[in-house]
Amino acid sequence: MSVLSTLRCPVVAAPMAGGPSTPALVTAVSAAGGLGFLAAGMIGVDRLVADVAEVRASSDRPFGVNLFLPDAGTVDEAAIRAYADRLAPEARRRAVTLGEPSGGDDGYPDKLAALLADPVPVVSFVFGLPDRAAVAALRERGTEVWATVTRPAAVTAAVELGVDAVVVQGVEAGGHRGGLPDDDDYGLLPLLRLAAECGRPLVAAGGITDGAAVAAVLAAGAAAAQLGTAFLRCPEAGSSSLHRAAVASGAPTALTRAYTGKRARAVVNDFLLRHDAVAPAGYPQVLHLTRPLLAAARRDEDASTANLWAGQAHPLARDVPAGQVVAEVTASARAVLAAAAERSTRWG
Ligand SMILES: Cc1cc2nc3c(=O)[nH]c(=O)nc-3n(C[C@H](O)[C@H](O)[C@H](O)COP(=O)(O)O)c2cc1C
Repeated sequence: MSVLSTLRCPVVAAPMAGGPSTPALVTAVSAAGGLGFLAAGMIGVDRLVADVAEVRASSDRPFGVNLFLPDAGTVDEAAIRAYADRLAPEARRRAVTLGEPSGGDDGYPDKLAALLADPVPVVSFVFGLPDRAAVAALRERGTEVWATVTRPAAVTAAVELGVDAVVVQGVEAGGHRGGLPDDDDYGLLPLLRLAAECGRPLVAAGGITDGAAVAAVLAAGAAAAQLGTAFLRCPEAGSSSLHRAAVASGAPTALTRAYTGKRARAVVNDFLLRHDAVAPAGYPQVLHLTRPLLAAARRDEDASTANLWAGQAHPLARDVPAGQVVAEVTASARAVLAAAAERSTRWG
């Protein structure tokens, strides 16, 4: 039986690297009948192992772990050096040194090995598709494999690899674009409909923050909705106070490479406006370059510079416990679907 079919609520807590996805958030969502996800990106393997142990110690419900796939592409080193020169005065003003714009694989081989040695119920991948051997090895150990896609061609490729479910991420989503770099940005609804016949359960992500939006994606063929921003203000999330305030605001969001070298949706601030047009592609090089500057901005509680990831519907996110988010969006989705079914009886 697939993990999705065991859930009492059609809600997946999106993995959110960089702090928000704590073991407490994962446990709260899974305990409420949804599916919690640990984010393994940007942490070491020891921390991943410790987070998995903490989730297991507090819950016997299923949960997932999300892995970043390493980027195999080459980068324009001169463009990254030019970006470093541009950011240098800001770094000096904050008395920090910019980071070394090095590459890296986010410890992917070690994290995959840890999850093969001690399997978890679900592993999802982001930033491309895993190789066939990784999919097969995880599935042999009883782990479900989910792939994140942002365009129709990747849905077909993921199914061909043998994944158990496909996370379709629309352009509305907060945080990084989850597929391979791609300028053809699909909205969630078109992507969901174009993926509908793929033969695998679909998990819809992007701009879903309340029950009506969950109802909409279920009606459009999704098996569950993956909500990220909706959980950022929950007490169990590890989001900073700066991030919580930005999510609560009515400010617009935009996609930008300015913070990390990979397009991600954030609440618009001065840093984004000043650097977006010239920021080079290059992940994780730009991430490593800007890290000390962005960490200093967070330390100084400076919302004009910090990266404040959020999806387009962020003003609807609420400061309530995660279990309440799961229960309320589920009840509301049910009521919205029933009301829509009732309205449909009046159609000629
Ligand atoms: C703060 C933040 C961090 C994120 N980190 C990850 C991550 O580590 N892995 C991943 O697959 N997706 C990540 N995402 C994207 C989510 O998985 C999901 O696609 C997105 O949150 C859905 O859009 P929404 O935020 O509008 O709900 C992140 C999103 C946010 C807002």
